[in-house]
Order: sequence, then C-alpha cells, then structure tokens
Amino acid sequence: MISTRELTKDFVVSRTETVHAVRGISLDVEPGELVAVLGPNGAGKTTMLRMLTTLIAPTSGTAKVAGYDVTADPSRVRRQIGYVGQGNGAGHSQRVRDELYGQGVIYGLDPRSAKRRTDELLDSLELGELAKRKVSELSGGQRRRLDVAMGLVHAPGLLFLDEPSTGLDPQNRANLWAHILRMREQYSMTIVLTTHYLDEADSMAERVVVVDHGEVIADDTADALKADLAGDQLVLTVAPGNLSQLAELAHKLPGAREVVGDGDRLTVRVADGPKALPELIAASQHYAVPVTAAQVLRPTLDDVFLNLTGRSLREADSTGKAAA
Ligand SMILES: Nc1ncnc2c1ncn2[C@@H]1O[C@H](COP(=O)(O)OP(=O)(O)OP(=O)(O)O)[C@@H](O)[C@H]1O
Ligand SMILES: [Mg+2]
Repeated sequence: MISTRELTKDFVVSRTETVHAVRGISLDVEPGELVAVLGPNGAGKTTMLRMLTTLIAPTSGTAKVAGYDVTADPSRVRRQIGYVGQGNGAGHSQRVRDELYGQGVIYGLDPRSAKRRTDELLDSLELGELAKRKVSELSGGQRRRLDVAMGLVHAPGLLFLDEPSTGLDPQNRANLWAHILRMREQYSMTIVLTTHYLDEADSMAERVVVVDHGEVIADDTADALKADLAGDQLVLTVAPGNLSQLAELAHKLPGAREVVGDGDRLTVRVADGPKALPELIAASQHYAVPVTAAQVLRPTLDDVFLNLTGRSLREADSTGKAAA
C-alpha cells in the first residue's frame, strides 16, 4: 500500500540554513496494516505524511502510495487516500453538517450516500448536537472531531491521520478510536497515524515506527520493541544490609543488565521479568538473602525510546517546539 525508498525532504530556510526534516526513509506498509508513527516534536512525522499525501514534493527518493508514484501521479494518489492534517482543515463559516456533507460530495459520493455517511459520523463522533453550529463556533476538541470526520467521510482505503486524538478528552479519544477501528474493519482500511500518546500507540497499533531526527530508528510491534530494546525491570526490596548479596545474585540472571542498588532497593533489567523473578527469589532463598518485596515492571514505549536515543520521549518533546 505504501513503499518509500530513501525518501528525503530538506527545507531551505535561508542561504545558510537547511533543515533536514526527513533523511532517507525507506518504509513498506502492507494493505490492512495499522501503523503508528511515534517521535518527538520536530522528528519529521508531519513532513513524511505531507510527502505521502502529495502536499509537498520530496527533495529526493521515491514514494509509491496506493500503487501510484507521489511525484508522477499525485492526483491518482489523492483519490485513493484520506488525510487528516495536524492543523484544522475545515472552513469557518459553514455549518458542521454542510461542511461534512460537502466534503462527501467533493469526494464523489452520491447525495444519498453523502447524507448517510454524514449522519453516521455526526453520531459516532458525538457531533450530532453541533450539526447546525458554524465551524468557527466549535471548541478545539469539537473541531478536531470534525477534522477527523472530514477525513473519514468517503471511507478511503488508505487513511493518514496526523495526531488525530491530540486535544481530545479521554471519552472522545475512546469514541474516536472505536470509530476508526470499526471503519477499518468495515472497509479494510490501511491506516498510518502519528501520535504523542504512547499508550495509544502501544494498545491500538500492531506496528510502531519510531522516528527521530528524520530517520526511522525502530520499526516493529510494540511488544517486540519493548522486549528487544528495553526488557522488563525487576524491583526488589531486601532487609537492611543484604543489598550487595542480592545484587550479586541478580548479576547471574541470564541477560541481566542495569543492576542498580539504592538503599534497600535493587532494580535489574531482564528480557523476561515474569520468568526471571521466581529464579531470583529462589536463588535468594537458597543463599538466605531476605527479600521482603518484589515486583515486575513492564517497559513502556518511552523506555524503548530512551534505550534507543538516550533521551526520554517526554524530555525530547519538551525541548522541541510547543506541542500542537
Ligand atoms: N515548511 C517548513 N519550512 C522549514 N522547516 C520546516 C517546515 N516544515 C517543517 N519544518 C522543520 O522540519 C522538521 C520536522 O518537522 P515536522 O513538522 O515534520 O515534525 P513532527 O515530527 O511532525 O513534529 P510534531 O510532533 O511537533 O508535530 C522540524 O525541524 C521543522 O521545524
Ligand atoms: Mg507533526
């Protein structure tokens, strides 16, 4: 469905400054995949999406989207896809229902289908009560929901969503996801989205592509990324004076890393926490090291990013430009 080779975008900002926003990304997405693109502010996510949706031209490299080349055949590409940009796309003075209906007609739906889709989307994104309001009168979260509805109205086979859920409250985030997943099922949609919500990427996408400084630095299932790169953390508390003995035992666990003691508390990183913890407890009993509490902490995608870059995704974010 998507195939890029060495896709690159440089922005020439001034005679002395060029921003290398996307640096040679090669990516393949199969039909039906749901891919989350994750990365700090300024990583190049939006720039990549804008190239794939033909809104900006690549500086070099190639991209085929839905069977067509983005440079040679942009209008064919556009007909196959839906795109919800990071900013607000909807107009200002139109009413919500008219805006959505009009979008459906522009995308080639017959009036009856356009009306049906409009009603469905107004309902599932909880915009029904706002149908007669002007777009300019909506709150930020309400506008975001309308933007997403606009991208979904013609039920495209391939949907790009740039931070669809940013600015939505938890209830509306959940509704939005329910709708996206339902649409995906119904129309066998392929979906590429960006998000800053790590939990969202983790639980919703089967595949997570981590982008940093314009490059793909990891691409796998969330579980595999976490298992390969971060591993589980064991946290144990010992009776005073026994920490070094426990640390010694922890070092002997297969693949043990990052053995850190602090007061009565020991942490150690292992590949498989639920398997390693009983082994460590058994060893501590054997050598009469009194462990008083123990738990396994599963890694988050933030741990994965930290492991890959030495920075936390949250820290990297706060140093970049303001989150949109
Ligand atoms: N039109 C432009 N002109 C110059 N530089 C740009 C332009 N658009 C983006 N950039 C720069 O390219 C880099 C990548 O920006 P991009 O918007 O793709 O990041 P992003 O990963 O989407 O970030 P965010 O999470 O904040 O949305 C940034 O350094 C940005 O300042
Ligand atoms: Mg962006």
